[in-house]
Amino acid sequence: MKKISFIGAGRMATAMVGGILENKLRKSAELACCAGNDDTGRILAEKTGIRFLEQAADLPPDTDLVVLACKPQQLDNLDPAIRQLVKGNSLLSIVAGKRITTLQEYFPEANTVIRCMPNTPGSIGEGFTAYTPSENLSPEDSTSIEGILGSLGEVLHVPEEWIDLVTAISGSGPAYFFEFTAALAEAGEKIGLPAEMADKLARRTFIGAAKLLEQSGASPVDLRIAVTSPGGTTQAALEKFTERKLREIVAEASKAARDRSLEL
Ligand SMILES: NC(=O)c1ccc[n+]([C@@H]2O[C@H](COP(=O)([O-])OP(=O)(O)OC[C@H]3O[C@@H](n4cnc5c(N)ncnc54)[C@H](OP(=O)(O)O)[C@@H]3O)[C@@H](O)[C@H]2O)c1
Repeated sequence: MKKISFIGAGRMATAMVGGILENKLRKSAELACCAGNDDTGRILAEKTGIRFLEQAADLPPDTDLVVLACKPQQLDNLDPAIRQLVKGNSLLSIVAGKRITTLQEYFPEANTVIRCMPNTPGSIGEGFTAYTPSENLSPEDSTSIEGILGSLGEVLHVPEEWIDLVTAISGSGPAYFFEFTAALAEAGEKIGLPAEMADKLARRTFIGAAKLLEQSGASPVDLRIAVTSPGGTTQAALEKFTERKLREIVAEASKAARDRSLEL
């Protein structure tokens, strides 16, 4: 899996190319991309030195691994030349919701299809990616795939049934935390802080809490208990979470994300 061609050059492809080059897994000359009608392919090529081909048919024919990094809705508009490129090679798909059997219908001559679910913290090497291959990978291919995905952060091999569940938790999860941070900033403003100050406090608190969680090794519940003196301010806030059933809201939201992934 020496040469890699990316189909799609958006946020996730950019994160993967960045990780691969930064970790010196491939040289820029070994990577190429094509995109749709906007400028993403050109921008990615200018930023990283990889090749951008306007026509998918011009992607390097000696490509060993094709990374499918477009949106699920864009799959039907892919250039048929991509099928030829995938023939006899491996296909690594980051497309949300598309099952291995569906991908095999699009690319019947792919040698191996690997479905994965990364997340946006991968763009700074702090991501989490779960993957599942259509068949057992050889030790060399397994090392190669785990190396490529590992450039985004942690990697885990999971059964395919879990991918839609992973999508709901770590795939979409960063957005949940960003939304909570935005809500906390808004709450700060509502209780009287200047907007800029409220934003700063919410961001720093989110970042600090995440680092504490990582560095302490303690469970989230233990860390929560450590901030919560009986009858104190945190308890007053947490009682509101319980009253409004925060955990049920989070469970419902995650279920909706899983169901949407199953629908796609
Ligand atoms: N963002 C996330 O948090 C996240 C996390 C995990 C998985 N994913 C999955 O990753 C995939 C990509 O997401 P993204 O956020 O990177 O999307 P994105 O930024 O919108 O990028 C999509 C890319 O696909 C290209 N494209 C569109 N039509 C094409 C075509 N017919 N042929 C070739 N390329 C085409 C677009 O090109 P132009 O725009 O230049 O036309 C663009 O470069 C999605 O399936 C998503 O579900 C995303």
